[in-house]
Amino acid sequence: MNEYEWDGACIRDVCAREVLDCRGEPTVEVDVITEAGIIGRADVPCGRSRGKHEAVELRDGDDRYHGRGVMRAVRNVNTTIAPLLKGKNASDQRTVDTLMRDLDDSPDKSSLGANAMLGVSLAAARAAAESHGLPLYRYLGGATAHIMPVPVLDMIEGGLLASTDLDFQEHQVMPVGAPTFSEAIRMGMEVYHELGTILERTYGNQARNVGDEGGYTPPGMNDPRDAFDAELAAIEECGYEKEFVLSLDCAASHFYDVDMGTYTFMGKATTREGMIEFYEDLASTYPLASMEDPLYEDDFEGYTMLTEALDVQIVGDDLFATNPRRVQEGIDRHAATALLFKANQIGTVSEAFDVASCAYRGGLAIQVSERSGQTEDTWLADIAVALDAGQIKTGVTRSERTAQYNRLLRIEEGDPLVRYAGRGYRNPFRF
Ligand code: PGA
Ligand code: ZN
Repeated sequence: MNEYEWDGACIRDVCAREVLDCRGEPTVEVDVITEAGIIGRADVPCGRSRGKHEAVELRDGDDRYHGRGVMRAVRNVNTTIAPLLKGKNASDQRTVDTLMRDLDDSPDKSSLGANAMLGVSLAAARAAAESHGLPLYRYLGGATAHIMPVPVLDMIEGGLLASTDLDFQEHQVMPVGAPTFSEAIRMGMEVYHELGTILERTYGNQARNVGDEGGYTPPGMNDPRDAFDAELAAIEECGYEKEFVLSLDCAASHFYDVDMGTYTFMGKATTREGMIEFYEDLASTYPLASMEDPLYEDDFEGYTMLTEALDVQIVGDDLFATNPRRVQEGIDRHAATALLFKANQIGTVSEAFDVASCAYRGGLAIQVSERSGQTEDTWLADIAVALDAGQIKTGVTRSERTAQYNRLLRIEEGDPLVRYAGRGYRNPFRF
């Protein structure tokens, strides 16, 4: 043993089970147990509006849960990964992740499953953090991590996440002018409840029904400008005009017709140029600060055009798929200004953190993101602080979302070093 070796987090066992995500679909939960008896546990969230370049989420495809079971991934953890990791140190995150990657040996993590691997990777991080007596954000982020993210609150839902006629997936608001994270949450929730009242007046009482992420789903609303108008009315009613900006996740790949090369937007076939024109118009009419996935996921050229045309944060979700090669291509081509960070798009903690470093070094901002099939596990909140990310999106209400906000409230309360990113959300370090 040399002076830096530490065996206080030696792995005794790794075991997985099937649990439920917030949609009642099965997902993987993993326990990493150390020789000292510490249990690090992590749940893996699941996407619905998935990008085609994401690592593979292993599903059983049999009769259980209409094919959505994850017992193959669970077995991969219990019978293949566990023997490999027994006796290794949970603190050696890179070793844990590399051993799994080597064993998987596929370009897209389809052998073991990215859901199996991420569960183990995060559970190892949890076990290590607890063995060191540190909260997860401090263990993963180190001594200097201190930025509380701006919540990107999904107030009105459409696309694949809700039964509405809206093409865009998330119509969000960002409380950038709040002084602290807890004030940002208070203001955000006041606006959310005011918005419910406003929507009910125009769209009837079913307007208060919510989608996968807790955002409203007003029947008959099909124009994103109506969503923005309602959001602005709620913000104004609360007296917060100067404190909020608007934001979007268009999730454009999901209303793009690859064969035709057009977007089916508000009932009409629309070209890329037509979409860009629409976005230019939106940005000049509304206090629009950020747009995620405004174009088809493989249209790097269109992204470059849009990034150069608009002074709006352009966030790559399906575009980047938290994949190092795609992020590097985006940086080289100036195709976006922010990375949407989703750990299970790549499959291990160390790879995801490497992608975040690559993004920072290339001048991209980072928005840490949930999946629409989130669980009550709160590692996402810790990762947002660990990365000094400046932005987190995790829906708005429903307990799997508020669990993340509640975790952040506790971090802010308990750590005198932290500071709310506020208007510096795109670069919390610019002085
Ligand atoms: P998901 O997508 O359903 O794949 O989690 C949410 C998003 O597009 O950001
Ligand atoms: Zn998205």
